[in-house]
Amino acid sequence: MRLQGFGHPLFNGVPHVVRRNDPYWRNPTVVKKSASLERPRGINHAAYRCRDAEQTRWFYEDVLGLPLATAPVFEDVPGTGERIPYMHLFFQLGNGETIAFFDQPETADESKFARAHSFDRHLALEVPDEASLLAWQKQINEAGVSCLGPVDHGFVKSVYMYDPNGLQVELTCRTGAWEEEMSDPARARASIAEWSQRMRAEKERRFGAAAIDRRSRRR
Ligand SMILES: [Fe+2]
Repeated sequence: MRLQGFGHPLFNGVPHVVRRNDPYWRNPTVVKKSASLERPRGINHAAYRCRDAEQTRWFYEDVLGLPLATAPVFEDVPGTGERIPYMHLFFQLGNGETIAFFDQPETADESKFARAHSFDRHLALEVPDEASLLAWQKQINEAGVSCLGPVDHGFVKSVYMYDPNGLQVELTCRTGAWEEEMSDPARARASIAEWSQRMRAEKERRFGAAAIDRRSRRR
């Protein structure tokens, strides 16, 4: 079975401490919605740079089983018109979403492919259940790619590896706790309010208040 799609939203491990007397809890921010617009329905593509198209094809198609869908070559960079050729390749997940890569050697060097910290950048792909997760882990290790875990995060279980481009790839399956975890936006907003208060001084030191409070260019 092919991988199903992108995994859990960004997981930050913040404990869900809800204070009933917290002003934020009593009067949670109203989520602004555009009444007439359907929310984006999925991920069309997530795009990354690759060192080498064939090396990347090997990993995503031969190791992870995601078929190569297209790999057009372009001679000009969109927008700038610079004549620097590049390839744009796409791999297809089980639900039709895609993962894309750019291969443009003239604007790359090896530093672009250093292994990124998972908090900076990682890609989580969802598999149906834990049995599938463990079967994938075994198959990936047998293909010669180090695949570590599983790690139990409570609402998901995950295994981790790096692709040839320094991108951490996570395979993850939902547990029975997923629905409850994802079903309480008021709790999530309260968590952000508490976290923001706790980290405010540190962030002002690092980024400055203006950078933290910026919301729009129209001010
Ligand atoms: Fe993750």
